[in-house]
Amino acid sequence: MLNGKVVMITGASSGIGAAAAELFAAQGASVVLMARRKDRLADIAGRIRADGGRALDVTGDVCREEDVERAVREAVENFGRLDAAFNNAGFATAGVPLHEIGTDVYERTMDVNVRGVWNCLVRQIPAMLAGGGGAVVNTSSVAGVAATGASAAYVAAKHAVIGMTKAAAADYGRQGVRVNALVVGATRSEMMQQVITEHPNLESAFMAESVQHRMADPVEIARAAAWLCSDQSSFVTGAAVPVDGGATATA
Ligand SMILES: NC(=O)c1ccc[n+]([C@@H]2O[C@H](COP(=O)([O-])OP(=O)(O)OC[C@H]3O[C@@H](n4cnc5c(N)ncnc54)[C@H](OP(=O)(O)O)[C@@H]3O)[C@@H](O)[C@H]2O)c1
Repeated sequence: MLNGKVVMITGASSGIGAAAAELFAAQGASVVLMARRKDRLADIAGRIRADGGRALDVTGDVCREEDVERAVREAVENFGRLDAAFNNAGFATAGVPLHEIGTDVYERTMDVNVRGVWNCLVRQIPAMLAGGGGAVVNTSSVAGVAATGASAAYVAAKHAVIGMTKAAAADYGRQGVRVNALVVGATRSEMMQQVITEHPNLESAFMAESVQHRMADPVEIARAAAWLCSDQSSFVTGAAVPVDGGATATA
């Protein structure tokens, strides 16, 4: 589905982003992987190259404009252009009401989830325009369309991701850049494991959100991202696409 495409993936060192790295590369994409954990990223890129794929690891923080700029520059320098991006890096906490979250956690949540996606769009879209178009997929959440319990900062951040997605889709639609968001449901990942270790009662609540009464495997989210990055979704833009096991159908 992604044969010949150059795709940047943020948050590629674990969970959904790592699954996307392997899946996109297996589908023929050249992948540019970004996250802060250098060794994890290098392992994933090395595995893809060992399997005959094309992967570049760029250690960096999506909150730092210069890191994002470097990743986009390296994509263009090494692979010639940037066709698509999966802006997936995120940070979540849950389990306490709004007034107990704390300004530091609020700021970190907004920084990684909102400023991080903003930084990526600002750098990626000019590179895509230079190549004649492209596709961006931003990772939002069920928390981006509904007030999931006791996570006000994350809910605010993931709603902002959907607003930014729609605005960017409107700005660049005529120039051939599509921008969509994924409304991701509860998924087994490091982030999820950390939340349920801190609040064990939330595990069954997360599973019950889905009409399938389970959490997703990261690759189930990555498959939807691959479709939205590909030309198969050519008339889909400005959309918030649920990949949530039916959670928003009953929210
Ligand atoms: N798991 C769920 O139930 C769920 C549900 C809805 C939405 N989501 C969203 O899905 C996305 C992926 O999360 P996940 O569930 O796969 O969790 P994960 O395994 O913890 O992955 C999070 C990724 O984000 C990266 N990251 C965090 N802060 C970063 C920063 N400042 N700069 C660059 N990379 C950063 C992490 O890498 P480093 O630590 O190496 O930087 C890691 O690769 C997030 O946007 C999350 O909000 C998850």
